[in-house]
Amino acid sequence: MDQYFKSYEELDIHQLMLSDKARVLAYKAAIFNSKEQFQDKIVMDVGAGSGILSVFCAQVGASKVYAVEASTLARTIEQVSSENNVRGKVEVIHSKVEDIRPGSLEKVDVIVSEWMGFYLVHEGMLDSVLFARDNFLREDGLLFPSVAKLYASPCQLPSMYEFWNDVCGVSMRCIGREYRRDKSSKPEVLLLNRDDLLAEGKLFAWLDLRCVSVAELDLLGGEDYVSVCEKDGRFQGVCIWFAVEFPDGSELSTGPRDNATHWKQTAVVLPEDAEVTRGEPVAFKLELRRNASCPRRYNMELSLLDAEAVEHDVPCGCHMTRCIVTRKYIDDLDERESCAIESTDS
Ligand SMILES: C[S@@+](CC[C@H](N)C(=O)[O-])C[C@H]1O[C@@H](n2cnc3c(N)ncnc32)[C@H](O)[C@@H]1O
Ligand SMILES: [Zn+2]
Repeated sequence: MDQYFKSYEELDIHQLMLSDKARVLAYKAAIFNSKEQFQDKIVMDVGAGSGILSVFCAQVGASKVYAVEASTLARTIEQVSSENNVRGKVEVIHSKVEDIRPGSLEKVDVIVSEWMGFYLVHEGMLDSVLFARDNFLREDGLLFPSVAKLYASPCQLPSMYEFWNDVCGVSMRCIGREYRRDKSSKPEVLLLNRDDLLAEGKLFAWLDLRCVSVAELDLLGGEDYVSVCEKDGRFQGVCIWFAVEFPDGSELSTGPRDNATHWKQTAVVLPEDAEVTRGEPVAFKLELRRNASCPRRYNMELSLLDAEAVEHDVPCGCHMTRCIVTRKYIDDLDERESCAIESTDS
């Protein structure tokens, strides 16, 4: 058995995921708010794990839930279903979803899956959900979740910087520098303090799960982005997080300003920091590229760019003259248009 599925046989992992209230309750709310979409419908739970999402679907009235689970945990799903009096509705399929022969099952009305890894795509499980979508979901069927988004923002990382400046009265800046050199070669999973976010999240990938292809997941981001600092601070890294949307419009978001989840956030640590001020533009390019030899992993590349040399949003709230002039021009135009509307109304 694949090492990846073996790792999901550890009950500790399931306890960690099941204790993540923000995660479980977001799925529960989305499913229970969409009773009509589940009533008498056939559902597939891709990667059912302990079976919790399958039970939710059965509880809101699904007539059948295929609980597909590759690890040996599949054996426990029947018992969990019995304990919750939905055994008759949940059909466990102990298999990789990719190994189920297309055509061997009737098409399903809904696919539910909790497939997200660190910075959304780590683990590469979305490929399996897209396989299930293409082979088992009826046309116009629903996906829970249906949209996934990746955000990035410049941030402060006090545990990487300030910590080393004064360890119980002893300065250890030299170790701090080495520590950061080490850390900057791979993404760091940590919980960021909401105050350490320097700007609003920049959306750098938006995936419509109803139509995105596996090939489109090979490269995420890759464009130039400009974030505008909301406050004075120290630019010490780029924080990355994700959100998913459900068909009822609800969202599970894992950013520093949301309730903490077991995914935490992911930071790319800068080896040296820089002072930034409110209104300052920070330009960067962020790329997540699938690792060719290990497709469940991604290589992350952050390049810092010259904010003068890249295009900014229009309008942009930064303090550069060209953006102030553009904002003024747009404001004047808006004012002239609203005056024109007022005079035609009167
Ligand atoms: C993140 S866990 C979610 C478990 C459960 N749905 C929950 O929400 O608590 C993902 C589960 O999917 C299973 N899984 C991953 N890829 C799969 C595949 N291709 N086919 C079947 N099961 C898969 C894993 O073994 C793991 O138990
Ligand atoms: Zn600007």
